[in-house]
Amino acid sequence: MKLAGKVVLLTGASGGIGEALAKALANQGASLLLQGRQLARLEQLRAALPYPDRHHCLPADLASARDREQLGQSQEVTRGIDILINNAGSNVFAWLEDQLPSQIHEQLVINVEAPILLTRALLPRMRKPGLIMNIGSSFGAIGYPGYSVYCASKFALRGFSEALHRELHGSGIQVLHFAPRATRTRLNSEAAYALNAEIGTQTDSADFVAAQAVDALIRETRRRWLGWPEAFFARLNGLFPGLVDRALAKQHSIIARHARNSSNVAAHHQEI
Ligand SMILES: NC(=O)c1ccc[n+]([C@@H]2O[C@H](COP(=O)([O-])OP(=O)(O)OC[C@H]3O[C@@H](n4cnc5c(N)ncnc54)[C@H](OP(=O)(O)O)[C@@H]3O)[C@@H](O)[C@H]2O)c1
Repeated sequence: MKLAGKVVLLTGASGGIGEALAKALANQGASLLLQGRQLARLEQLRAALPYPDRHHCLPADLASARDREQLGQSQEVTRGIDILINNAGSNVFAWLEDQLPSQIHEQLVINVEAPILLTRALLPRMRKPGLIMNIGSSFGAIGYPGYSVYCASKFALRGFSEALHRELHGSGIQVLHFAPRATRTRLNSEAAYALNAEIGTQTDSADFVAAQAVDALIRETRRRWLGWPEAFFARLNGLFPGLVDRALAKQHSIIARHARNSSNVAAHHQEI
């Protein structure tokens, strides 16, 4: 889809990937509805985009049903949108027993429930042809120790994307699933970065991820996995999960040391 002149609702616009995506989309000539929780951050972003007057800030807490409803009923949205990007996300890297119930709940709400309910609310507002892009993760295809809840949420988002795309066949609306690998943003804790450094996991810049997402929108790519070997492992895990079980078992003690690192666990507890 050509992006010039298209109205794009982008959730999580104030985050690392969100900001880079907003800039990349605005450079293509799209008009943006920028969603996040902090109006000041969104306004700062809007002012830095080309043609700031073309874009609008729609602050909302996606965990709140009232905020989601207000977002769906806002003037900017009721005029119609061409593209919805469900990008807002939440992630905790810790052993399951070290995660607070509130942290588990937040990941499931922000990564699964909110995109599903927002998509349901916005479908009648979508112009045709239209695109919905759900931002998944490599962890939406590979169950990884320390990310059990995050993986559960991203596997669910992938299933939702696939089923909804098939459900909407012939409607003029397509659902794209876009899965980055580790990306340098504030989503990841210091422990997650330390683990990645120790085991040699590559991380991408948010600008690279945004450029890939824009390319996937233009080409209407149904499924895109970023990174080698992540994209390969995602497929291998689907076909031969036992091989991936064995590969990850070899790294178990290293992953556990970082996930159970007391400062990592304490930092998460303080956030709540
Ligand atoms: N970074 C990675 O390594 C990586 C890898 C694969 C996939 N992803 C996925 O990419 C997406 C973007 O991640 P990121 O790395 O850019 O994360 P980030 O920098 O932490 O940004 C997260 C965004 O989500 C928003 N958000 C969180 N909770 C919200 C809530 N309750 N209501 C409304 N907005 C909320 C944040 O808004 P506030 O500014 O208001 O907090 C922020 O804009 C996520 O879906 C993530 O799972 C990231």
